[in-house]
Amino acid sequence: MTQLTIAIAKGRLQKESLELLANAGLCDPREALSSRRLAIEDESGCFRFIFVKPMDVPVYVEHGIADCGVVGRDVLLESGADLLQPLALGIGRCRIVVAALVEMPGNGHGMLRVATKYPHIAARHFGARGQPVEVIELSGSVELAPVLGLADCIVDLVETGRTLRDNGLRIIEVIAESTGRLVVNRASYQLKAKAVETLTAVLDAK
Ligand code: PRP
Repeated sequence: MTQLTIAIAKGRLQKESLELLANAGLCDPREALSSRRLAIEDESGCFRFIFVKPMDVPVYVEHGIADCGVVGRDVLLESGADLLQPLALGIGRCRIVVAALVEMPGNGHGMLRVATKYPHIAARHFGARGQPVEVIELSGSVELAPVLGLADCIVDLVETGRTLRDNGLRIIEVIAESTGRLVVNRASYQLKAKAVETLTAVLDAK
């Protein structure tokens, strides 16, 4: 029997990912959600699920520790890992945007300071238009940076828009749309072709 290891991004996408897998009959999400175990197997032994930080999903899959992963396009755009992306899963719909204070003061020093959890996306976005920026990398609560004067704007995810609104920020422009993706390791795609095909087909039907 071929076992597939699937890396699931913890956090905002985790619940929807598990629901999708459960609807496809691949796992029982209760076990995953009720314990702190970071690796579980399904009853048949066909699947092992590992739960890792979103940015670590491409790392586990690219290195072949996980055969597949479920992760947002935002993370894939940031990571640049060499993975196959056979399927958009239609979960976790959000946008990557540039946002700033509704009342944005001039920064008085020419170079735009951009706070973000996505330094590569931010550098690429502003680099493509020749805008010099200082990218300030943060781990979370990015919306605070313009409010407290750490940055002139942010590059961040927007789902409902509530965090922006509640912190007095507005969208300046949309960089990209993001949804959850199934990603597959290149070698697994060949060596475990049947199992990967079956997984893709089952998830595609949901
Ligand atoms: C994300 C993102 C925004 C927020 C947007 O953060 O970075 O802060 O969600 O969601 P909304 O538009 O629905 O308000 P996350 O919840 O992942 O936490 P973090 O700030 O710790 O990264």
